[in-house]
Amino acid sequence: MNKTPFPLIDEIFRDTDKGHIKRTRNIRLIPSFENRRGGKMSYAEWAHVIGIFQTIIYQALENKTGNKILDIGCGTGLLGISSEPFVGEGGTYTGIDVMQEDINFCKSHFKMSNYDFIHLDVANATYANDQSSLLKPWPIANESRDLVVALSVWTHMNEVDATFYLKEIHRVLKKGGKAIVTFFFLNDDYEESLVKRSDAHGRFHSTPQNEWIFDVNAYDSKNWMTTKQAKVPEDVIGVTPEGMEILIKNSGLKLNQYYPGNWKEEPGIFFQDILIFEK
Ligand SMILES: C[S@@+](CC[C@H](N)C(=O)[O-])C[C@H]1O[C@@H](n2cnc3c(N)ncnc32)[C@H](O)[C@@H]1O
Repeated sequence: MNKTPFPLIDEIFRDTDKGHIKRTRNIRLIPSFENRRGGKMSYAEWAHVIGIFQTIIYQALENKTGNKILDIGCGTGLLGISSEPFVGEGGTYTGIDVMQEDINFCKSHFKMSNYDFIHLDVANATYANDQSSLLKPWPIANESRDLVVALSVWTHMNEVDATFYLKEIHRVLKKGGKAIVTFFFLNDDYEESLVKRSDAHGRFHSTPQNEWIFDVNAYDSKNWMTTKQAKVPEDVIGVTPEGMEILIKNSGLKLNQYYPGNWKEEPGIFFQDILIFEK
């Protein structure tokens, strides 16, 4: 099928579908095709991923409403949608991103008074390569958040950024607060998946077998890896077990839980690996 009509079909579908939503109120906020980011363009895939993270967020939170949630690399707000039930009346949601365009979109799309969005003027070689190369702390008070979420963001950070900003998560979390961060974690499951992928068709996703092979060092890092297809390392980054151990130790966070991603061709709840941290 010619791809051109998809945005039109999407627009008609979304408008019609909204009238049929009965039990999942927050998915009314799924944006139009042009404004869906994060490597997920399909309406159905957004709804699916929103649901997965809504469940993960629910499980991670002690109090189920009135939470102060910070979303790093919010893009066009997928996790803002997953977070909505848990923010409730007394809580807040803040999205931070280096892309001014996405922050502008979020400001116009999410009308809730307890939602706000902040542009961070910091460079990322893939998303904002013309911005300041200085690392900047987030304009967020110490120990002020119950939960920090970051979906498909540490998969675009080089070692220096990843280390600095994981420490930032520790700084802004309240004691006992949680962080949900996705990675491409290059652990034993990954090594095993290389063998499986070399002689079998991928079972869980539809992208080429050779797309997720992290065999190129990201800049001069020993533990932050990228793929041959990447134009710049930040297009896609995986972290070795040694790198992950150092990263977590330096951050001061404690790793509570690990959900392996199905990108490694094993059953998993999400495509990327999900790590849940606690302060
Ligand atoms: C793959 S997109 C994911 C967007 C969104 N979380 C989602 O899943 O739809 C990665 C996002 O991370 C943002 N990003 C990259 N480096 C960042 C940084 N240092 N601080 C904040 N955002 C960053 C990018 O601008 C981009 O919006």
